[in-house]
Parts: sequence; structure tokens; C-alpha cells
Amino acid sequence: MPISHSYIKAHKEMKQCRFTLFVKELSIRIRREVREGSFQITTTIVFCLSVAFFVVILGMFINDHVRKFIVSEEFYLPQLTKFSQLSPWSPYSQFLCNTSLFSSPTLPPLNSSTSSRALRDLIAPKELWHSMNDKELMWRASMVPHFVDYPYDRTPKVAFMFLSRGRLPLASLWEKFFKGHAGLYSIYLHTSPEFNTEMPESSVFYKRRIPSKSVDWGKATMVDAERRLLANALLDFSNERFVLLSETCIPLFNFTTIYKYLINSNHSFVSSFDDPRHIGRGRYNKRMFPTVTLPDWRKGSQWFEVHRKLAIEIVSDVTYYPIFQEHCRPPCYMDEHYLATLVNKLRPDLNSNRSITWVDWSRGGSHPTKFVRKDVSEAFLNQARHGFNCSYNSGLSSICFLFARKFHPSTLEPLLRIAPSLLGFDP
Ligand SMILES: *[C@@H]1O[C@H](CO)[C@@H](O)[C@H](O)[C@H]1NC(C)=O
Ligand SMILES: *[C@@H]1O[C@H](CO)[C@@H](O)[C@H](O)[C@H]1NC(C)=O
Ligand SMILES: *[C@@H]1O[C@H](CO)[C@@H](O)[C@H](O)[C@H]1NC(C)=O
Ligand SMILES: *[C@@H]1O[C@H](CO)[C@@H](O)[C@H](O)[C@H]1NC(C)=O
Ligand SMILES: *[C@@H]1O[C@H](CO)[C@@H](O)[C@H](O)[C@H]1NC(C)=O
Ligand SMILES: *[C@@H]1O[C@H](CO)[C@@H](O)[C@H](O)[C@H]1NC(C)=O
Repeated sequence: MPISHSYIKAHKEMKQCRFTLFVKELSIRIRREVREGSFQITTTIVFCLSVAFFVVILGMFINDHVRKFIVSEEFYLPQLTKFSQLSPWSPYSQFLCNTSLFSSPTLPPLNSSTSSRALRDLIAPKELWHSMNDKELMWRASMVPHFVDYPYDRTPKVAFMFLSRGRLPLASLWEKFFKGHAGLYSIYLHTSPEFNTEMPESSVFYKRRIPSKSVDWGKATMVDAERRLLANALLDFSNERFVLLSETCIPLFNFTTIYKYLINSNHSFVSSFDDPRHIGRGRYNKRMFPTVTLPDWRKGSQWFEVHRKLAIEIVSDVTYYPIFQEHCRPPCYMDEHYLATLVNKLRPDLNSNRSITWVDWSRGGSHPTKFVRKDVSEAFLNQARHGFNCSYNSGLSSICFLFARKFHPSTLEPLLRIAPSLLGFDP
């Protein structure tokens, strides 16, 4: 729509007229105030500033009209889109809209690449670091789309969630494990809050730390850290399986085998069993009744693997968590009972009831065996890899464990030597 010169001229004259009126009013006001002897410097300054502001706005307005004839309309369109995206109801965009610069008040629709960029930020946050507190985080993570299909090409990923004090001593083994499989996994690192050393940019652990809090062994803060890891990992809608690992864990197979095993499994791997001994049922507290009964009570290993459906149930639990937090305190270890009991209460049908992480309790005591350099051999690793039979998707499998713990940092050297050929890592 062309704007005629006469229209512009009339408009300009009108504005200029208004401006002279303001100046006149100002001088009348000053004269009156001087006459009345109540001249106030501050009032005048404020008034003058308002007049100056008005002049600037008027200048911009006229300038826009004049430039309209010099510069093409396209020059302004992206600018307007940008402004209205930032704040569609800002006075500035209203001002622009009402100046009849554009033939239509409706904005051009965002094109598909822009809208899918907006969706990408929702599917997976670009930065892991955020300022949400735990309550906000759990709420955000509990959101579930109501659609069955995804509006994008979704390749399911496995979230590897590491619970560690600081740097992972076996990081270089994991680096080899992940190499060449980008797009099929996500890594999350919960460390001590004091630990803030960043890994080099080339590392798979670079910028994978999540906002963490301090953790006490066997206390509720341990479960909090696990839930925090799950919630952060849930923010990426492509994560389908979630495995909790410690700093002493190692993989027992190559990435492809582990990925297929988990993605194709119909069950989660949360160890959950009824232990009649005092270190099992004996830790049940009658005050948990009736929310948690003795027949509900389960024991299990802390190192779980769950699929997305179960992960959402875990971060959204507000019924059982407070009961455990209050009534399961040492010598009741919440991390050994909470998930095992929760999954048994909520979705026993989704669980295999067995752990996916091998550990050696055969030497007794309250801690499992910690393996050192001399323990590591091909035969030893093969025992953990193939020495068991278990059910998998209602069939039998000779692969029962995908990970193993507890490996002392001194095992890194023999592991790096044996693993490439034994597990099939790229050398
Ligand atoms: C702009 O126009 C809309 C309707 O056309 C009106 O409601 C609004 O008050 C106007 N804004 C300004 C700043 O004039
Ligand atoms: C969408 O916008 C981007 C960037 O502005 C441009 O590169 C792309 O060609 C546009 N796509 C379509 C379908 O118009
Ligand atoms: C796991 O245990 C629950 C009961 O605690 C049972 O309902 C479920 O079928 C078990 N899962 C498998 C795979 O056996
Ligand atoms: C596992 O099952 C196979 C075949 O059923 C059997 O030959 C093997 O000895 C079993 N292994 C163990 C460790 O029980
Ligand atoms: C896994 O679950 C799906 C759907 O529930 C079912 O169709 C399939 O047969 C199951 N697979 C096995 C091996 O049990
Ligand atoms: C991974 O391991 C499986 C079985 O253990 C093997 O068949 C496969 O070739 C290995 N993949 C690579 C890339 O080495």
C-alpha cells in the first residue's frame, strides 16, 4: 500500500503542530509557576525530560515514514518478527503495528526451520546446567506428551548417569566405549558440588555435569542424587533407557551389544527381592503402615536401570518418598529399599527384578569386593560376562550383566589392555 506524499505531509504538520502546542504549554506553565512563586526545579526537569522524550519518539516516527520510501519493506520484516517473538505485546511492537507501515496487522508465519529449532530446544535442552531447584526440576521432568508418535525422527538413546565424587578414575575406558556412537547415548554426571573441574572439550564427559548437591552414603541424599540424575536425563525426550553407574563401574560388553540389550528389553532392571533376614525385612518400620506394608517391603541394589515410563513414575513419586525419608534411616539404607519397594508397588509388571550390574558379595561384609590391578584378567571378565543364566524378555539368556563394579583406579591399565579385543572396542 503506497503512502501518498500529501498524507505524510499532513501527518508531519499535525505532529509538528502538536509539538508547538507542547512548547507553548510549557512556557505558559513556567510563567505561571514563576508568578505564583512556587517554581520547583525538580518538576521542571521531569517535565523537560518528558518533552525531550516526545521529540525523540516524534523523530523516529517521521524517520520511519521517510525511510519507507528509500529502503525496501523486507528490511523491516525480519526486525519486526524478531521483536514480536521476544515480546509480542511490548509497547514498541504495538507502536510499530499501529503506524500503518504494514498493509496487514497479521505477522508472517514462522517458517518450518524456525519452528523446528524451537522444538529442538524443547526436545533436549542445549545446556545441561540450569538454575531450577529440585522441586521445579521434578515437576518439569514429569511432563509426558499425550501423543503416541513424535513429530520428529526419534532415535531412542540410552542415558548413562554417573554418580561420582569427582573425576571418573576410569574415564578413559568409558571414552573408548562411547567412541563412534554419538547420537545413541547421553551422559549425565552428578559429582560433589565442590568438584568443578571441566573435562577437555574432546571428552565425552565435557559439559555433562548436572547441578549437584552433596551426598551421604546410605542416607536420603543418595536417593535425591539418583532422582536428580533421572530428572535431568528425562528433560531429553530422546532418552529411552536410564542406567545409574558409579565411578567404579566398567562396561562388560561393547556399546552396540549394551545398547541393543537395553533398548530391546521389555523390562527394567531394578533389583527387587524379599529378604526375610534382619538386613531385609528387619529394616521395615511399622510406622510406614499402611502406605507401605511388610509384604510390600523389598530390598535391592542401588545400581538400577529403568525405562522412560518407570523413570517418570520415580521422579513424580510424592506418596512413598516422604514416608521413606522419615522412617528409613540408618541402619535402614534408603537407597537399598526405596526403589525396590516403589517399583514393586507401582509397576511390578515392568520389572525384571534383577540388577544389570554385577558385583561380588562372596567375601562377605557390608561392602562388596573391590577389585585391584592383579584381579583383572580375560578369564575373570568372561566369568562376569557369560557365567550366568537368566531370563530376558521371557526367554533365557547367557548375558545377565552388562556392567560390573567395584574397580579400583589401578585396574585401568589392565582394562585398557584387555578390553579392546575382549569387548570389541575400537582400538
Ligand atoms: C494499536 O491498535 C490496537 C487495535 O488496532 C489498539 O487496541 C491499541 O491500543 C493500539 N496501540 C497504540 C499504542 O496505539
Ligand atoms: C526458513 O528460514 C531460514 C532462515 O531464515 C531459511 O534459511 C530457510 O530457507 C527458510 N525456509 C523456508 C521453507 O522458507
Ligand atoms: C518381578 O516381581 C514381581 C512381584 O514382586 C512380579 O509381579 C513380576 O512378574 C516379576 N517380574 C518378572 C520378570 O518375573
Ligand atoms: C546355562 O544354561 C546352559 C544351557 O541351558 C547350560 O549349559 C549352562 O551350564 C548354564 N550355565 C550356568 C552358569 O548355569
Ligand atoms: C515385549 O512386549 C511387546 C509389547 O508389550 C510384545 O509384543 C512382545 O512380544 C514382547 N517381547 C517379548 C520377547 O516378550
Ligand atoms: C560387539 O560385540 C558383539 C558381541 O560381543 C560382536 O558381535 C560385535 O562384532 C562387536 N562390535 C564391534 C563393533 O566390535
